[in-house]
Amino acid sequence: MFKNLLIVKPVTPSPHVDAGEPVEGSLQGEAGLKRVLSARHLVLLGIGAIIGAGIFVMTGQAAANHAGPAIMLSFVLAGLACAFAGLCYAEFAAMIPVSGSAYSYTYATLGEAVAWFVGWSLVLEYLFAASAVAVGWSAYTISLMENLAGMAGIDWTFPSVLASAPFTYANGKIVATGSLFNLPAVLIVGAVGVLCYIGIRQSATANAIIVAVKMAVILALIGFGAQYVNPDNWVPFIPENEGGDRFGIEGVLRGASIVFFAYIGFDAVSTAAQEAKNPQRDMPIGILGSLVVCTLIYILVSAVLTGMMPYTELGTAKPVATALEPYPALSWLKLAVEVGAVAGLSSVILVMMMGQPRIFFAMSRDGLLPKALGAAHPRFGTPHKATVLVALVAAFLAAFFPLGLLGDLVSMGTLLAFATVCIGVLVLRRTRPDLQRPFRVPFAPVVCVLGTLSCLALVFFMGWYNWALLAAWTFVGFCIYFGYGYRHSKLRQ
Ligand code: ALA
Repeated sequence: MFKNLLIVKPVTPSPHVDAGEPVEGSLQGEAGLKRVLSARHLVLLGIGAIIGAGIFVMTGQAAANHAGPAIMLSFVLAGLACAFAGLCYAEFAAMIPVSGSAYSYTYATLGEAVAWFVGWSLVLEYLFAASAVAVGWSAYTISLMENLAGMAGIDWTFPSVLASAPFTYANGKIVATGSLFNLPAVLIVGAVGVLCYIGIRQSATANAIIVAVKMAVILALIGFGAQYVNPDNWVPFIPENEGGDRFGIEGVLRGASIVFFAYIGFDAVSTAAQEAKNPQRDMPIGILGSLVVCTLIYILVSAVLTGMMPYTELGTAKPVATALEPYPALSWLKLAVEVGAVAGLSSVILVMMMGQPRIFFAMSRDGLLPKALGAAHPRFGTPHKATVLVALVAAFLAAFFPLGLLGDLVSMGTLLAFATVCIGVLVLRRTRPDLQRPFRVPFAPVVCVLGTLSCLALVFFMGWYNWALLAAWTFVGFCIYFGYGYRHSKLRQ
């Protein structure tokens, strides 16, 4: 049995593929679609997936309660962990360009049971992230609609009974909100689900437009906001520790584990590997290019926010808009920021909801999940059944659960997947040195070990309740694996 659990899916050196060429066994090969995504599409997909609730929502709480102005340092630390993992993803995605991402890489290196664990953790990343970000989207959209109504002279507020989850989780306590469910979050998940059902090319085009809006707003924020920065707000840079993970070095590390969420998504580029025109060259460009751009943006945005306003006042649900409030000359920018946030969060939901069905698709094709999830739509060529399932579950979570609770869980699942991918690179270098690697992690032993350790260190700084939830999630996952996947695994048959 132990041997069965460790069974490894053999990797065949991937032949070079050209634009327009379907790939055997791929979504496109079977559905008759072509490879359509260019390097530019992939970088934009990455930026679309990365910049979202992390910077527009979570930065404020992390600065106000944990890191202070040193939130910039938290971003650097989380960015370093992601850089190590990003290099490892780039090596795998160029070498094994399949849609299953970390799940497929692990199947090829550490065996079926660990691959299942990673695939199941990726559900936390993609599906839960789509829901978490939909909750953030809802808050910004309601505020934007109310502001627009106010500007038109209409006295209107969104009905609070439909504005959020029925409960929220704060300081270790569950508190009722008086709301029934989060209607806007359900609507955006539904709309994005329809887009994902229709096709990847449409999704990529919609994403490119949204990313343009979001980047324009963020660059404007950095450019105009910088003129109002008061360097006194950056002192003390690391506020003195007030116990636990409130400020001090502990706070900076906790801050890094929270803002890690902001980086999630560069790996989503790898789920589009089967739809890339030239994955061997473009996957590393897409993954690392989007990561570098976003890291620079995050450090600049967090410097501007903590410079414009004392960090103690940033702990709101819309910190970017909050930082602009004291400056009447920038009121136009506040509206633009809300538009940018709504756009930005939409693209994160879109890319996450594109990624999750493709992972289910890969797992189903391996026999670990029911066959229906591996079906491709005869006309659209998308994993339509998996897309419907993902949309339904994501809508349910977004309707009834608060952002904070979902956010940390998303980060934990992602960090575990990242750590496994870093180990996988080293394992495959040893077991299959013969494979052609279009991209190689430089100084692999050092980078992979640092990547694994830094990801695990960030997991360590999550609260204990997140550990409990993760343990429960993993338990349910293995029940499903032993109840279904273990018996239906195609590799073993
Ligand atoms: N990185 C994505 C965000 O911040 C998940 O919304």
